[in-house]
Amino acid sequence: MILSFVIKINVSESNIKSYPDDLGIIFLIGFMGCGKTTLGRKLANRLGYDFMDLDHLVEAREGMAIAAYFAKHGEAAFRELESAVLKQTAYPENVVVSTGGGLPCFFDNMDWMNAHGKTIYIKLSPKTLADRLEKEKEHRPLLREHHGEALVTFIADKLTEREPFYCRANIIADGLSLTAEKVEALLQV
Ligand code: S3P
Repeated sequence: MILSFVIKINVSESNIKSYPDDLGIIFLIGFMGCGKTTLGRKLANRLGYDFMDLDHLVEAREGMAIAAYFAKHGEAAFRELESAVLKQTAYPENVVVSTGGGLPCFFDNMDWMNAHGKTIYIKLSPKTLADRLEKEKEHRPLLREHHGEALVTFIADKLTEREPFYCRANIIADGLSLTAEKVEALLQV
């Protein structure tokens, strides 16, 4: 009796975390190249949560890369599809989800994410995003044709359109030298 009591105390103490119980799903949002997937994996690892990447779920569901889907069906069909995948996925209880850069800006996706979990916007400047994206934009259909200064301008214009949605996130994090430790600290409200 006494022994089981002692064991119970030890187990529960080792599990104590200072996060609110109802954290739900943690959604990482932000422009292409802001680091959602890399950071998401690290954060999930740190918290002992699962990790899911919505772009990968879309690709798995359709059996083709996003660039191929865009080329075959166009952007409007892609937006319908990614919204359906967002809302129809069976998420595990504790999970970090990285989302496609445009997803928060279509339909009621931002409301849906805020209603089902915590949203974190990883914010970076157009110049920093352009530097990161210049060499890895081939598989991103919206960016392919833009180079150099034109890429910076394109990103700045898109960010002006998108930030009203991104800024409805529960947490806005400066993406420069952002670490999983820092995000964890921001979650401990
Ligand atoms: C898009 C971002 C991409 C992908 C698609 C469209 C966008 O995801 O969903 O190419 O509109 O910003 P990442 O942000 O993961 O690159």
